[in-house]
Amino acid sequence: MKILVTGGAGYIGSHTVKMLGRKRHEILTVDNLSTGHREAVLFGGFEKGDIRDRAFLDRVFPAFRPEALIHFAASAVVPESVENPLLYWENNISGTVTLLQAAVRHQVRMAVFSSSAAVYGEPERVPITEDHPQRPANPYGMTKLVGEQILADCDQAYGLKSVSLRYFNAAGVDPEGELGEDREVETHLIPVVLKAAARVKSGKAAGPEHSRGGGAVVRIFGSDYPTPDGTCVRDYIHVNDLAQAHILALEWLSRERRSEVFNLGNGRGYSVRQVVEAARRVTGVRIPSRDEPRRPGDPAELVAGSEKIQKVLGWKAVIPELEKIIATSWGYFSKTAG
Ligand code: UFG
Repeated sequence: MKILVTGGAGYIGSHTVKMLGRKRHEILTVDNLSTGHREAVLFGGFEKGDIRDRAFLDRVFPAFRPEALIHFAASAVVPESVENPLLYWENNISGTVTLLQAAVRHQVRMAVFSSSAAVYGEPERVPITEDHPQRPANPYGMTKLVGEQILADCDQAYGLKSVSLRYFNAAGVDPEGELGEDREVETHLIPVVLKAAARVKSGKAAGPEHSRGGGAVVRIFGSDYPTPDGTCVRDYIHVNDLAQAHILALEWLSRERRSEVFNLGNGRGYSVRQVVEAARRVTGVRIPSRDEPRRPGDPAELVAGSEKIQKVLGWKAVIPELEKIIATSWGYFSKTAG
């Protein structure tokens, strides 16, 4: 299949492009490289450009003639979205509208959209099923919910069929070691913990804390949540298992020709302390941690009800175990961080 991938140079996008390439799909990655990395695009063509740029899209779409779109490109840092919401409406909503206008103009028939567990806000019950009320607690989550709605309208009006995948916590890296997880400023728990481990291992633990999220001491944000050990519980899913769901979604869309929304998680929650403990076991490093106040906007527990995607798309995780997920990341951070 000919697939145009926006944001294919990013963390989840690059893992998906690799998997698509291995399955011999024809791919064109479109990415403005604001956070992505050109060298992470291992298969297919590449065009540097912005999804908000209509002239750019009107050059790229007719030249490649994609049948399908996978739309990863977005701003995706929750606290940043609170500080600068207009950036999120601009990138995630204006960008999506301009992209979908081009897709409709150029007869693209199906799309897979990166949505998020952030559409649910503070959950009323866990595990969270797709019919749980959607009340985003921040602008990022709201832009993802609106993105889903725009796609629903596009199906109704133009027959553009789509699958929206509500990701829970993406984690891990390419087990073959060809891809990584490299952000300008790191805030995600597993990379933060493994960067700390790498610093301890390399003997730099006594140095000043890094500005790029590489401090030697892991800060545990909140130990008074209503959870078994008081720290936040999340559902971590390996990035390749996420990638696989996009391929299944495209295959399903080309067969079924209808739109759907799916949660994408393992259905199992781990607390922040459990993640730190698991990382200590995987790395063999006594990673130091200290309890700190809650981080604003963090829900206590986010765990996916993932029966729907298993039943409808036939999705099943290959690496559901937390320690194995962390081990893939350690393969990367033990070499690159420290
Ligand atoms: N945490 C720490 N210390 C750190 C980093 C994180 O204690 O140094 C905690 C957080 O407070 C949270 C948990 O670890 O309780 C996971 O935090 P992450 O930042 O790794 O992930 P989030 O759950 O905040 O974010 C994820 C996705 C977002 C998505 C959000 C939905 O990365 O894209 O879930 O709420 F929007």
